[in-house]
Amino acid sequence: MIVLGIETTCDETSCSIVKDGNVILSNVVSSQIDLHAEYGGVVPELSCRRHVDVLFPVLKQAVEEASVTLDQIDLIAVAYGPGLIGALLLGVTAAKTLSIALNKPFIGVNHVEAHLYAALMSQTSPAKFPCLGVVLSGGHTALVRMHEVGSYQLIGETVDDAIGEAFDKVAKLMDLPYPGGPRIESLALKGNKTRFPFKPGRVKGRPLDFSFSGLKTAVLYALRGQNSTGTLPLEMTEENRADISASFQHAALTDVVDKALLAAEMHGCRQLVFGGGVTNNQALRELVASRAGDKEALWPPKGLSLDNAAMIAGLGYHRYQKQGKGDSLDLEPATRISDWN
Ligand code: KG4
Ligand code: ZN
Repeated sequence: MIVLGIETTCDETSCSIVKDGNVILSNVVSSQIDLHAEYGGVVPELSCRRHVDVLFPVLKQAVEEASVTLDQIDLIAVAYGPGLIGALLLGVTAAKTLSIALNKPFIGVNHVEAHLYAALMSQTSPAKFPCLGVVLSGGHTALVRMHEVGSYQLIGETVDDAIGEAFDKVAKLMDLPYPGGPRIESLALKGNKTRFPFKPGRVKGRPLDFSFSGLKTAVLYALRGQNSTGTLPLEMTEENRADISASFQHAALTDVVDKALLAAEMHGCRQLVFGGGVTNNQALRELVASRAGDKEALWPPKGLSLDNAAMIAGLGYHRYQKQGKGDSLDLEPATRISDWN
């Protein structure tokens, strides 16, 4: 089955052609990083305009690179949420229009669920369910018990900022451009992770939930100084930035790994399935490798960590198999999706 995937939830426009849920024939991603860098975050209006400009060229390239014709496409899968409403509307409308024009079924996919599927779609051996899904993206941080593809139980999530958002905000505090994650990671390589004793947030009575806003505020105080304790503002030298980055990253990643391993133990999971843009972070992968013990970690392959349409097409295939039919054209974009099934 040949599936066209469309992804426009945030600041990447992507189209992909995937065969039978896991054979990627093409995966074209047009990033908007250049557009948002100077603003320290994604500007929704600019994002929509760029999606409008590039969606059809990206679609054309994805079809050409896959050497298929539009007629050969059996299903159109689109990320219908969560994301920015204007950006989602463009992708969903394009998918519905193609569905009508080509007379092919259309299916909506949860973008966050697709981040977890990204790590599964390239595995040569089947996943050992139940697995512990760990979503680490710019908009979401969650721990999910995965019973099979398409069946999940949410067991932990952030009560405030997502981890990628925390990386981006800390970078912004140090006047670094968006997206902050990769910049913090490379600065941290040169920094001293023990210089600032930052503490990850705890949520009372909910050991598997996350809170990153206190950590971000601690970084703010370290940078700006605090009257109450007489600490002075830090000079923005390369060394200070590196030490802040290393200390922040260490606190945030240790928290994620501690809670993921605890969740895996509590919920009888032998495999950890990681997804989302923060999984690009090499320090995270090394920390997991050193701490995982008898647990096996599955990671998205290169190119499938950040937002991409291959994971949307892949998961769309499974949803279609499970439902036995496509979605109604009444399906609306959703900025939030609370139901994981
Ligand atoms: O999954 P994603 O592409 O978009 C969302 O669905 O949100 O994730 C983007 C996020 C951004 O916050 C970015 O700073 C973060 O992933 N990120 C990283 C790294 N690369 C991207 N965070 C830490 N280290 C990285 N190397
Ligand atoms: Zn994403």
